[in-house]
Amino acid sequence: MKKSSLFFVLLCLFQISKLGFCLAGSVHTANNNENKRHRFISVTDFGAVCDGKTDDTQAFLKAWEAVCNGVSDKSFLVPLGKTCMLKPLKFAGPCKSSSITFVIRGNLVAPGYTWDVGNFPEWISFDSINGLVVKGGGVKGGGTLDSRGSVWWGSGHAQDKDRPTAMHFNNCNGLRMYNLQHLNSPRNHIGLTGSKNISISGLNLTAPGDSPNTDGIDISKCIGVDIRDSVISTGDDCIAINSGSSYINITGLFCGPGHGISVGSLGRNGEFATVEEVRVKNCTLSNTMNGVRIKTYQNGLGYARKISFEDIRMVDSRNPIIIEQNYLNRGKIEEVSFENSSYQNRGGKNCFYKTESGNGRGVKVSDVRYSRIYGSSASDEAVTFNCNADMGCEDIVMDHVNIVSAKAGQGVSASCTNVRGSYFYSPINCIKKH
Ligand SMILES: *[C@@H]1O[C@H](CO)[C@@H](O)[C@H](O)[C@H]1NC(C)=O
Ligand SMILES: *[C@@H]1O[C@H](CO)[C@@H](O)[C@H](O)[C@H]1NC(C)=O
Ligand SMILES: *[C@@H]1O[C@H](CO)[C@@H](O)[C@H](O)[C@H]1NC(C)=O
Ligand SMILES: *[C@@H]1O[C@H](CO)[C@@H](O)[C@H](O)[C@H]1NC(C)=O
Ligand SMILES: *[C@@H]1O[C@H](CO)[C@@H](O)[C@H](O)[C@H]1NC(C)=O
Repeated sequence: MKKSSLFFVLLCLFQISKLGFCLAGSVHTANNNENKRHRFISVTDFGAVCDGKTDDTQAFLKAWEAVCNGVSDKSFLVPLGKTCMLKPLKFAGPCKSSSITFVIRGNLVAPGYTWDVGNFPEWISFDSINGLVVKGGGVKGGGTLDSRGSVWWGSGHAQDKDRPTAMHFNNCNGLRMYNLQHLNSPRNHIGLTGSKNISISGLNLTAPGDSPNTDGIDISKCIGVDIRDSVISTGDDCIAINSGSSYINITGLFCGPGHGISVGSLGRNGEFATVEEVRVKNCTLSNTMNGVRIKTYQNGLGYARKISFEDIRMVDSRNPIIIEQNYLNRGKIEEVSFENSSYQNRGGKNCFYKTESGNGRGVKVSDVRYSRIYGSSASDEAVTFNCNADMGCEDIVMDHVNIVSAKAGQGVSASCTNVRGSYFYSPINCIKKH
């Protein structure tokens, strides 16, 4: 090890709490040697202009062909100091190499106008690429994606399906992604579907707190996802864990503003949905609408189980701990047939269909542990377990849950419906002990 890199490692250890600097630095040191051996295929070698205005989409696709079909292990490079404009595009595999590295040292910007979402539901998508590594330059070294979402947020695209996801990964086993900054997605910033063994760190996702459904990371049908040391400040869920997902770890996340960390919603339109083995640890939720939430539709089937939230700090969170097993079961009462596909869906102008318990359906919620949850609640109700009479919530454990009101001199309460489990050292609680 060279002296300079040893110094760097020490600096790293020292700086470990500061997001991004470490990996940014190590990329930089590796860089000097790598360039000499021509380890990179740069988009500028394929005609990308990267002045922030010219359409660079075709150049990116040509460079991708070269990397994906190449037998060498060269990395795809967006060079430092460049801003490349991309229309919606897909980087498709499978690739010849078992590991592909996509280095974003410069910036990527979306066109800044809307397009037909039917044809292009994502701005940048990656499909069927195993061993993909996507890395930015870290906080100082670039690696910023600007989705320019504000052009989509108006009333012309009010429904979620009318707006694209910014970055999507499907069937990308072994994905590694780190040190990216990403701004203003039209809808969710990052979608992960149908993949195993994903590891993500050092992300900074930012959008206005009132931007519509701009989730940070959405996970569906993924097994084995590790997300750590990231900052997500957007208009909806910081991270949403959806059906078909298991073995999901979230550690060292700062979330807020936003709607918190969610399991679900599960069981929409009566579907069978499952989520299990979720571990959320050492996170801060600041000024969020919800803290840690599990939400399921009363008409769904399946389960959410083996979930733990540990060492979570709440700062002025509105619903710090919440299980909602009757999601969207409020508002207008409608008689709808059981088979109706829009059953319990949002219909027309903000009307909700009411479903009644007693139909034997529901998504079972069990084995959920809240350990060492502390900090402040913006509302009087710090703990809400609104479970359904048919399914109920079982084995819900609160251990050292101690949340106070954000308003001086005010108390907080807990509300429990159809929930069973146990509690230790948790001053506010209402769980029926087994
Ligand atoms: C997970 O992905 C990494 C990086 O792509 C790979 O080295 C490792 O073998 C994978 N592990 C499993 C269990 O597939
Ligand atoms: C995240 O990005 C926002 C917007 O660019 C920036 O203001 C903020 O300082 C960044 N935070 C971190 C921790 O890098
Ligand atoms: C999640 O964390 C647990 C406990 O630290 C660990 O055993 C497991 O391998 C982790 N899973 C992933 C996908 O990182
Ligand atoms: C918790 O996460 C923060 C933010 O990433 C990190 O700085 C801190 O070291 C972590 N603490 C522990 C005990 O892991
Ligand atoms: C299904 O729901 C729609 C409203 O979205 C309603 O117009 C229709 O009558 C319902 N059909 C049945 C069979 O209930």
